[in-house]
Amino acid sequence: MSATITATTGGPFARIYGFGSYRPTRVVPNSELVDRIDSSDEWIQERSGIVERRWARDDETVVDMALAAAERALADANITGEDIGAIIVSTVSHLLITPSVSSIVAGRIGSRGAALDISAACAGFSYGINMADALVRAGSAKYVLVIGAEKLSDFTDLDDRGTAFLFADGAGAAVVGPSDIPGIGPAVWGSDGTQAEVITSTPRRPRRTDPVLEHGDTRPLLTMQGQTVFRWAVAEMAKAAAEAVAAAGIKPEDLDCFIPHQANNRITDAMIKYLGLPENVTVARDITHMGNTSAASIPLAMDALRAEGRLPTGGLALLIGFGAGLVWSAQVVRIPG
Ligand SMILES: CC(C)(COP(=O)(O)OP(=O)(O)OC[C@H]1O[C@@H](n2cnc3c(N)ncnc32)[C@H](O)[C@@H]1OP(=O)(O)O)[C@@H](O)C(=O)NCCC(=O)NCCS
Repeated sequence: MSATITATTGGPFARIYGFGSYRPTRVVPNSELVDRIDSSDEWIQERSGIVERRWARDDETVVDMALAAAERALADANITGEDIGAIIVSTVSHLLITPSVSSIVAGRIGSRGAALDISAACAGFSYGINMADALVRAGSAKYVLVIGAEKLSDFTDLDDRGTAFLFADGAGAAVVGPSDIPGIGPAVWGSDGTQAEVITSTPRRPRRTDPVLEHGDTRPLLTMQGQTVFRWAVAEMAKAAAEAVAAAGIKPEDLDCFIPHQANNRITDAMIKYLGLPENVTVARDITHMGNTSAASIPLAMDALRAEGRLPTGGLALLIGFGAGLVWSAQVVRIPG
């Protein structure tokens, strides 16, 4: 028999140690967008729940936002960059093919850990948490930094009635590490590439009124079949959320908190109804002030609840992300603190 190879094993389980987020300072109210899309503040609020969103400064990048969120998550977890054995950044809005956001962030926080970016759109943070859980338990890394960071304003068509008011910018991060008891439940995750075209991106067409394009802007623009996505989310994602609760071995009434991807308050309402969530379960509605920040929306929403003093620390939270791909991911986690 040939020699056997040594394999690693990590902590028996994993948990979230701490988290943090970054919100750009520029607040963009609905009133700033409605004229170009023949819409109104009332329509946007009623159909999506969005009152305002944040956009990064022109000179502010996905890397800048990811780093700011990462530093806050590390401080919250009481862990230094040197302790981080792997960094997973989920983003669909980094402007460069290479280097990755994760490797730049690793260098800036003083980590020499493995660094990779993933593209799982609005499911990216939940994908990252699932991957971190697996890495920690396998012993591939002791502490994993998971970041969702987006500058979707770079890819938003301000003349598109279906998306101009939706997308926004920000970042959120969490540190995952070993635990004696399970702090991250099994993920219910997957993809349906047969629906890849319902949220996609198309090359920009130069418009005379767009000064940036005259200088050769090649960024594509996000396009979405809103109603199709809406119906899919209400029908299929509510089921995935229920499966994640069952997979964690708990019942909806055992949850303390529900932090869905911030896509539309009406989708959130439909999930609450399907799950039969009791009134006392805290529900994240950060979309009201942040719009849809894709991979960043779940950790941003978690941090907003904490800032409002409404986060049930030590309790159980159901996370679910879903979006372009189509892809989805849901799991129950124990909130640190
Ligand atoms: C985008 C979204 C808010 C649009 O809401 P909707 O109710 O589906 O809107 P519709 O496209 O069906 O349009 C309804 C009506 O409003 C009009 N309308 C569309 N956009 C409008 C706008 N921005 N302002 C005012 N009216 C608008 C339409 O013309 C239509 O008018 P009609 O009934 O006279 O034909 C909704 O589809 C949505 O949230 N989809 C899911 C998005 C999502 O979850 N993305 C996550 C993945 S990242």
